[in-house]
Amino acid sequence: MKVEFTSTAKFADAVVAPVFDNNRHSVGADALDKATGGVISRAQKKSRFTGKSRQTLVINAPSGLDAQLVLLVGAGDRDAADALSWEVFGAGALKTLQLCGAKTLVFDMRDMGSQACARAVFGALLAAYRFDKYRTTLKDDKKPSLTKIRVICDDTAAAKRAFSPLRETAYGVEMARDLVSEPANVLHPEEFAKRAQSLESHGLEVQVLDEKDMKKLGMNALLSVGLGSNYGTKLAIMSWFGAEDRKEAPLVLVGKGVCFDTGGISLKPGAGMWDMKGDMGGAAAVTGTMRALAGRKAKANVIGIIGLVENMPDAAATRPGDIVTSADGQTIEVQNTDAEGRLVLVDALWYGLRFKPHQIIDFATLTGAIIIALGHENAGVFSNDDALAGALDAAGKSSGESVWRLPLGAGYDKQIDSKYADMKNIGGRGAGSITAAQFLRRFVGETPWAHVDIAGTAWKDKSDDPREPAWATGFGVRLMDQFVAQNCEN
Ligand code: BES
Ligand code: MN
Ligand code: ZN
Repeated sequence: MKVEFTSTAKFADAVVAPVFDNNRHSVGADALDKATGGVISRAQKKSRFTGKSRQTLVINAPSGLDAQLVLLVGAGDRDAADALSWEVFGAGALKTLQLCGAKTLVFDMRDMGSQACARAVFGALLAAYRFDKYRTTLKDDKKPSLTKIRVICDDTAAAKRAFSPLRETAYGVEMARDLVSEPANVLHPEEFAKRAQSLESHGLEVQVLDEKDMKKLGMNALLSVGLGSNYGTKLAIMSWFGAEDRKEAPLVLVGKGVCFDTGGISLKPGAGMWDMKGDMGGAAAVTGTMRALAGRKAKANVIGIIGLVENMPDAAATRPGDIVTSADGQTIEVQNTDAEGRLVLVDALWYGLRFKPHQIIDFATLTGAIIIALGHENAGVFSNDDALAGALDAAGKSSGESVWRLPLGAGYDKQIDSKYADMKNIGGRGAGSITAAQFLRRFVGETPWAHVDIAGTAWKDKSDDPREPAWATGFGVRLMDQFVAQNCEN
């Protein structure tokens, strides 16, 4: 999508203007009303449109205007308008007009301020995302027609400045959505590692460890998950050094990258198993975040580490009851090979701790139980550090990717004690998301750590948020981009 900012009122194709509660016109809506000799306000009177957020009103081929249509989009309470409400505004406009046939979408945002302009376009970009690459029979009238967004604004330079980092964040979100959407016959661990490597072109330093490297390091928890797979298990390390001092302690992000999770020998039931192509959503969030941070040249040192592996049943696969030794020397009885994410994460966390991070945060589609607890509205957060948990909560609120903290405690920790090893990888029926987090907790020591369980938010079967596509959300990229901006860049 091309994006341009202009200060001249050049209308074309499809023209969008905000209208506030009680049908209060913006400067743009007013200009359109005048140009059409009152057609716009007449259409408002003849409809139920009032300017409430999420409302839209299409006026086709209005006289007096060289445009296919005018779209009014409700912007709600003018005094309460903020970054997120402008995103929803822009996203709603794009979703309404994505298939309308027009090529250019003109936002008349005069008098709205440059932040509003930038956020509206950001929302529109998020809404424009589609994963159509494997569709060969899509009819022409079902294909998106928009190729350009033009924003009429007062201060084009300021709007461009506000938009340029958001453009990079949007690229990061798109990348994460693509990774989650790709089927596992295409995006297996080796292919994912290549896509991580391709980020070198954006200025990231990328290193990929293979099985031999990891064996030497003793990363047998991670390796045990991939024993049944035909693809090589990988660990990709993506580094961005944007702080003034390259030696300044980094923030480390860790992602679960199970490219397909069959459950292994503890095989999952068939219905819905196809969704497990998205079990690398944590790794996608980390990769997309690194893409965004490098793109906008964030002034922070951040290292992203993703464990890439496929969990398959096979003669060589790990069996229930097998005991494996993690890189930090703790032994784990694998009672259930479907609780594989935590095995991936603990070795990746161990690797991350070697960088002596000031904070370490992992992202994982870790437990079905988090969906039972929080649904698809919030990701679950677990942390050994109140300040870090608070910072994530704040970043969640300002990015719109919200999180909810759940407890940890000694009683839960006991649930994963094993008869034969230091711990087992499942904790019984109760508190499944917490015992999974408790497992990770045993590997992070005193370093401020947070675990974000995104099993309910990495994809959604349906969402009424116009910024989110039909399935993969890219959850975590906007959250972490905000987190870095708010906590690591000064
Ligand atoms: N990848 C799954 C968790 C998951 C479930 C993600 C549904 C997204 C949607 C994970 O590896 C898993 O299988 N977890 C088990 C753990 C159990 C065996 C302790 C689960 O949640 O059932
Ligand atoms: Mn599993
Ligand atoms: Zn899994």
